[in-house]
Amino acid sequence: MDPRKRVLLSGGCGYIGSHTLVELINAGYEVITIDNLSNSDLNSLKGVEKITGKNIIFEKIDTCDITSLRKIFEKYEFDSVIHFAAFKAVGESVEKPLDYYSNNLGSFINILKLMKEFNRPNVIFSSSATVYGNANDLPVTEATPRQPAESPYGNTKTIAEDILRDCCKAYKNLFGIALRYFNPIGAHPSGLIGELPKGVPNNLVPYITQTAAGIRECLSVFGNDYDTPDGSCLRDFIDVVDLAKAHVAALDRMIRKDMKAKYEIFNIGTGRPVSVLELIKTFEKVNDLKLPYKITGRRPGDIPALWADVSLANIELGWTAGRNLSETLQAAWKWEKNLRNI
Ligand code: UFG
Repeated sequence: MDPRKRVLLSGGCGYIGSHTLVELINAGYEVITIDNLSNSDLNSLKGVEKITGKNIIFEKIDTCDITSLRKIFEKYEFDSVIHFAAFKAVGESVEKPLDYYSNNLGSFINILKLMKEFNRPNVIFSSSATVYGNANDLPVTEATPRQPAESPYGNTKTIAEDILRDCCKAYKNLFGIALRYFNPIGAHPSGLIGELPKGVPNNLVPYITQTAAGIRECLSVFGNDYDTPDGSCLRDFIDVVDLAKAHVAALDRMIRKDMKAKYEIFNIGTGRPVSVLELIKTFEKVNDLKLPYKITGRRPGDIPALWADVSLANIELGWTAGRNLSETLQAAWKWEKNLRNI
């Protein structure tokens, strides 16, 4: 196989990683998946194998361990890396900043060092809309200034973007794309892969599906007194399958050598704000159920409203979010039901 069609996927067993794996395989890429399984398990790969009918090449590797990671670079020829492997719990990052800085930045630096050493040109980095903080002008474009991070987790995204920018500038053969994800939600429509949070979910949609499944008693809506149309927060909820496809579009662009600069950034969202209450009502309607929920106080640190201008990704990547909120929330519920044998 042509090394241009081979990709190393770090964190490939996780939520976004596993969905991206499906879309890469569908697009004809050969993928080497690595994961340390610290926050994921191999069932996601079984799901991917069922969906795609392909066997997955998998190696249990911690990207923080450069010796093991080097063996992967020695063993496989690939031109591109998609780097997902990272810790992602905002609250936990406040309690354990060193864990977040050493894991999220250490692993990315290892990837970049080895890409330089082995002359592998293309890297896609999972960034986040968190870098925009509480932006004044909405929707945010890629040119909207980043704000100081509110958490160590968010700071790892900002710093990693800067590391990538500097490396692409310094090293002739390195090209990078940072994708700034808005709020990824949903699951593969097959219901075979999806999000698997450990413990009590922090994020809205897994909390909703677990409440609908009877695992959680009642969903708390964190505030209905924001300066928004219905008082609840506004977000740009992006279907995880659409998000996965954005990685394929970004990779295609790198391989076609279509990049306009050595380092590029794209917002990956729908461009459409949806409120927390609107999302809950849509979930109830499309899945024909009632969700127990109550309005509680605001969650500290929450941003009232954030959504993306996605014109750049639309034009340059030729990518648009194709799935609508109803389809997304049906898939999220299908996945939860499969998981719980409901
Ligand atoms: N929410 C509730 N109840 C819940 C969970 C969430 O009302 O039980 C609300 C939140 O208050 C917020 C919205 O649902 O208004 C979305 O919350 P999430 O936790 O799902 O997502 P966030 O927008 O807070 O977090 C996301 C990413 C983080 C990232 C952050 C900042 O998950 O990785 O955006 O951009 F850091």
